Amino acid sequence: MEVRDNNFCIGGIGAKSLVEEFGSPLYVYDEEIMRTRARELVGAITYPNREIKYACKANTNVEIMKVFREEGMSIDAVSPGEVYAALKAGFDSDSILFTTNNATHEEIEYGVRKGVMVNVDSLSQLRFVGEHHPGIELCVRINPHVIAGHHDHVITGGPESKFGIDYTQVDRVKEIAREHRLTIAGIHQHIGSGILQPEKFMEAINVLLDTAKHFEGLSFIDFGGGIGVPYREEEERIDVQVLGLKISEEFEAFCRAYESDLKLIIEPGRYLVAESGYLLATVTSVKEGQRHRFVGVNSGFNHLVRPAMYGSYHPIVHANCVEGDRVRQAIAGNLCESGDTFTRDEQGIVDRDLPLFNEGDVVAILNAGAYGFSMASLYNSRPRPAEVLVRDGEARLIRKRETIEQIVN
Ligand SMILES: Cc1ncc(COP(=O)(O)O)c(C=O)c1O
Repeated sequence: MEVRDNNFCIGGIGAKSLVEEFGSPLYVYDEEIMRTRARELVGAITYPNREIKYACKANTNVEIMKVFREEGMSIDAVSPGEVYAALKAGFDSDSILFTTNNATHEEIEYGVRKGVMVNVDSLSQLRFVGEHHPGIELCVRINPHVIAGHHDHVITGGPESKFGIDYTQVDRVKEIAREHRLTIAGIHQHIGSGILQPEKFMEAINVLLDTAKHFEGLSFIDFGGGIGVPYREEEERIDVQVLGLKISEEFEAFCRAYESDLKLIIEPGRYLVAESGYLLATVTSVKEGQRHRFVGVNSGFNHLVRPAMYGSYHPIVHANCVEGDRVRQAIAGNLCESGDTFTRDEQGIVDRDLPLFNEGDVVAILNAGAYGFSMASLYNSRPRPAEVLVRDGEARLIRKRETIEQIVN
């Protein structure tokens, strides 16, 4: 943590001064952290024919996507909007994989028209693509029945998951592909998000590699994203060097048996951006309640939904008094729901020992770069925050603050 004169700093700039310059609530991203994470992952996969796709759902700001393009990454997109954002960020269409889930026919057509490869996740979608685009190359998402993730909502493998084609239905996939002369260029999986146990990845990777044996002429295998980051101090960071090496070794052995040097793809989102992002909010009121000291701020789950939605923990810092006398406090948002507290778990409010907050102070919520702004909403007709990117001690506005005139129609 970067602290100067008891002030919390992001990329060399005081958080409070960022709020003074750009207003609050404000998302701030530290570009250096993104690039460090990107380079770590690129270096970790020793198998040479590899590609890292940035799963841009984690943060779809075009300027952030450009950073990952500069780092040599490609894109996993899940909607026409994300495909559009990727093209706007300068990615070539052939470097974008369009992973669909319950997409409309029009959405699939949009992807095909833009020249991106479609990653189908149901037999009916596969049939649709075959009937309308016989002979096309595509990717097929498989559900390997391996379950992992930080919360039920983000577990995307296993029998309860709506994602992918069950790995037992491979014969049907091949039949439909044959019927429509489709080329299955790759198979794909994504088992869940926020995974901190490397063995879960390896388990799913082995199931997918077993499934891959049933397909001839594959060009790539995409193992999805899901690498977690520690949100709590006691959580252990996943050793991506060790994981990358293990994946590379398994993959190399598979390629030898398959007699082709396929491309190895992974598509992380959270790992690349989570720790680079901060949500800065200003304290608007303080209330001494019977059970809690409520520190009210000018933001809420409309801007960072993870605590309210999953009971997620985010570290919180008193940005203009990092070290001070600590009291137990609850940080609350400004929305009309009791669940709108940033210090909570799934059961309810969990007070934290933090330096005493007063009106006008700045609250910094850490690890907010992934699934923060990209999951923001317009609930209570409150505009979404501005976004700022910090690099080499300079801050640049990368998304203007919305106005109520823009959001109310
Ligand atoms: C298909 C797919 N790929 C990649 C990801 C990225 O996951 P993470 O941000 O956990 O790396 C997701 C997240 O939900 C996903 O659905």
